[in-house]
Amino acid sequence: MDMFRAGLLTLALVSLECAHGTRQEPISFSKDVRPILKENCVLCHSAEVRMGGVALDSFEHLMSSRYLNRPTPFVIPGDPNRSRLVIVVHTSNAELRMPPATSGLHPLGQESILVIRRWIEEGAQDN
Ligand code: HEC
Repeated sequence: MDMFRAGLLTLALVSLECAHGTRQEPISFSKDVRPILKENCVLCHSAEVRMGGVALDSFEHLMSSRYLNRPTPFVIPGDPNRSRLVIVVHTSNAELRMPPATSGLHPLGQESILVIRRWIEEGAQDN
């Protein structure tokens, strides 16, 4: 990631922490994360349309997803920086980024990326 994006992410993270104050509500998979995946990813990654062999339409599918039989899961609970789910939405490398640049769909906003990051940091629960 380049310095500019890294800086933006830090800023956004700080303001998100402040907005939540001391009362840190845990991120919910069903209420917060799932709608983001549904809106931006499920078009190409469902049980029916598994592009790259990836399905993201439910907690079970997300947690069991593997890209082209790689052993590492997409979500490593507690470790967003090594979670493929975060890497592909956050990277500035257009060839790696999801949704694909060629699809004409917009990259995820910082807010959405932070929601996913925090959910993984908090242990990636089916909550
Ligand atoms: C327009 C269709 C489309 C959309 C929308 C889309 N993807 Fe993909 N995705 C693909 C295709 C095609 C591949 C296989 C790419 C390849 O082989 O390079 C893929 C592969 C992947 C992979 C495995 C590749 C890797 O580098 O690990 C992940 C993870 C992934 N997508 C996550 C997402 C996420 C998260 C979203 C939503 C934010 C998303 N995708 C939205 C088409 C899409």
